[in-house]
Amino acid sequence: MNIAIDLGSDRTRVFIENKGKVLDEASVITYDVDTHEIYAVGNEAYAMIGKTPVGIRAAHPLDGGVIAQSNLVEEMVAILLKEVCTVKIVNPRVVTAIPCELTEVEKRAVVNAVSSFGARRVYLIETPKAAALGCGVDINSPHGAFVADIGSGTADIAVLSLGGISVAKCVKRAGSAMDEEIVKYIRKRYNLIIGTNMAERCKVAVGCVTAPDEVKTFRVKGRDAVSGLPRFADVTNGEIKDAIEEIAVGIVTAVRDVLEQTPPELITDIYNDGIILTGGLAKLQGLAKMISLSTKLRVRVHKYAPDCVIMGCGKAIQFIDNAARELPNGITPLLTAY
Ligand SMILES: Nc1ncnc2c1ncn2[C@@H]1O[C@H](COP(=O)(O)OP(=O)(O)OP(=O)(O)O)[C@@H](O)[C@H]1O
Ligand SMILES: [Mg+2]
Repeated sequence: MNIAIDLGSDRTRVFIENKGKVLDEASVITYDVDTHEIYAVGNEAYAMIGKTPVGIRAAHPLDGGVIAQSNLVEEMVAILLKEVCTVKIVNPRVVTAIPCELTEVEKRAVVNAVSSFGARRVYLIETPKAAALGCGVDINSPHGAFVADIGSGTADIAVLSLGGISVAKCVKRAGSAMDEEIVKYIRKRYNLIIGTNMAERCKVAVGCVTAPDEVKTFRVKGRDAVSGLPRFADVTNGEIKDAIEEIAVGIVTAVRDVLEQTPPELITDIYNDGIILTGGLAKLQGLAKMISLSTKLRVRVHKYAPDCVIMGCGKAIQFIDNAARELPNGITPLLTAY
């Protein structure tokens, strides 16, 4: 049996052949800093962020889609997979998505992390290709498709045609960078220290990047920076817009850069079909509109935006046997075998 893994900076998703998506948990691990004993992984570990006692850390071991701490990623993947592989899957072949523009060393780190639990072979697919497959785009046709997967650590933007990437760009400031900007804003404006989980909740509840139609507020709770006592503040969607807008502008600029470098024949296809957004942050209010206003193109957020990459990796399992380092006609293969 073969499996697919989308090791995201925020979420880890697993797909098992003939079963579908079986796991969707936070990419977080809680461990003892000295002994490296693991306390929790996934959603359970996410709930511990900012609440751990001295000597115990709850951390995202992936940053910007890149493996920051390889031993922690290996442990996290192994424990999460054990939860879902009730019938022991012996030496599976694994398809996994990677951001565009990873170095060979960074790719090797992903391969090692995924292999460590006993994968026979690892097949890498660039995130936008997986996202397009997951959206049902026929990526092998000679038709240009513009896909942007906007997640927590990266916005992976690409024009695809003939099964390959024509132009791509990877921006390393997306959802989690917005959370950090919200933390900074609340500290500066209200003298209130909040955690990143609270900031993320605030972003999902009232975050927006275009002028809101109505005022909405969200109560953020934290610690007063001066007195050290618990306190809250009611922040408006307009304030959150000001805090996170710059990161959205970075993503929109990258989309425009990719369009500017796209060959004219493919631009015609994209003009007709528009842009497809996938990834969790694609659901951020106003982001699709902002991209549409800036590019004058239609922008559609996929109905199951956060799941497109894992579903695409799952679909790519069927191409495992055709994977090769390079095809004779010079076209890049859908999957690269490691
Ligand atoms: N409704 C929503 N509104 C705004 N942001 C959202 C919403 N739902 C999820 N997000 C954000 O989307 C991000 C997670 O998206 P996703 O699951 O695609 O990331 P990931 O695959 O783990 O990360 P990456 O691919 O960048 O490594 C988080 O920053 C989360 O806060
Ligand atoms: Mg992702």
